Amino acid sequence: MTKQETYQTLLPQIESLISGETDVIANMANIAAALHEAFGFWWTGFYRVEGQQLVLGPFQGPIACTRIPYGKGVCGTAWQRAETVIVPNVHEFAGHIACSSASNSEIVVPILHDGQVVAVLDIDSKDFNNFDEIDKKYLEKIVAFL
Ligand code: SME
Repeated sequence: MTKQETYQTLLPQIESLISGETDVIANMANIAAALHEAFGFWWTGFYRVEGQQLVLGPFQGPIACTRIPYGKGVCGTAWQRAETVIVPNVHEFAGHIACSSASNSEIVVPILHDGQVVAVLDIDSKDFNNFDEIDKKYLEKIVAFL
């Protein structure tokens, strides 16, 4: 299956998985697990906005940094810009926060409610240049279910 086909299969599955549940943490947990398993990412998870920091939420993969300040790292940058950030090579991103030295590329998708970023979806890959406009398009659709 191509990446696009995998997302197209996954999209209705995720929608039905979370449509009957109102708890956002439970839904984040299942989205992280579904994406992680389907694509074999290195790390897949959420950070939630708490005041001036992002705090670690449901995730799949190795242990991670628990708090990220506004504007810091790829996650804090996506929060500040309120738009998806794609990083083909994390070692070339100024201020990248290396929770794991095995990560080489990353995508961070903000989740907005009433125009405010309330959380971000962060995905890391061991492969360089793993994320593109296809990931952006489908991941933005997936987080819109939340
Ligand atoms: N690399 C992220 C930090 C989170 S970990 O990748 C799970 C960043 O630069 O914001």
